Amino acid sequence: MMRKSKIKPSIMAHLENPNQPEGTTVWSFPIRGSWATHTNRYRGNFAPQVARNVIQMYSEPGEVVLDPMAGGGTVLIECRLLGRRYIGCDINPEAVALSEKAVDFPLEGPDAGGQIVCADVRDLSFLADHSVDLVLTHPPYLNLIRYSGGRIAGDLSNIRSVNKFCQAIQQAAAELFRVLKGGDFVRFSSAIHAADVISFRWPFE
Ligand SMILES: C[S@@+](CC[C@H](N)C(=O)[O-])C[C@H]1O[C@@H](n2cnc3c(N)ncnc32)[C@H](O)[C@@H]1O
Repeated sequence: MMRKSKIKPSIMAHLENPNQPEGTTVWSFPIRGSWATHTNRYRGNFAPQVARNVIQMYSEPGEVVLDPMAGGGTVLIECRLLGRRYIGCDINPEAVALSEKAVDFPLEGPDAGGQIVCADVRDLSFLADHSVDLVLTHPPYLNLIRYSGGRIAGDLSNIRSVNKFCQAIQQAAAELFRVLKGGDFVRFSSAIHAADVISFRWPFE
């Protein structure tokens, strides 16, 4: 086992307090969070610390957070723990089932509730215009991981062409802006791949 004195101070800080909010634009999580029902079993899923930091930075307790490509449900678990109302969806019913299982744990704090549906991020017609406070999502990595193995037509991870993938993401973004609340700021966060998270806040109206 490595002696404590050999561990870098930044890594030590995480070991001692893995939930401390990130204070810089470079986030590093040497130890992946495994609290509540979090696991690393869903391929390419978020480290829970990514979801936790973005949710805390860009939303308030009781607000509505949408993850329209929810996968194994990392964002939804963090929403429950942080008292945000979650809306999760995924085009793959198997991912929906995993997310439903992931949010099924006893909670000590206030329960803001939520819903999980099987839907295409490009058609969220079950949601009203301007009904969501924050979108935090994590699209597939082109076709590097084919989440449904080509079985589901609308799965963005079937797409090989960068141009076609960008067109699909553009359609998704238009739908996400439709459901986001207006007002002073729009909040949209998207992880482009495991190591990069882009968070935008910009005037909307
Ligand atoms: C990178 S994974 C998300 C992982 C998730 N952040 C987690 O922590 O578990 C991308 C997800 O997008 C889903 N997906 C692909 N195309 C979709 C579409 N058109 N609409 C909704 N979800 C889609 C896939 O099924 C997959 O679960």
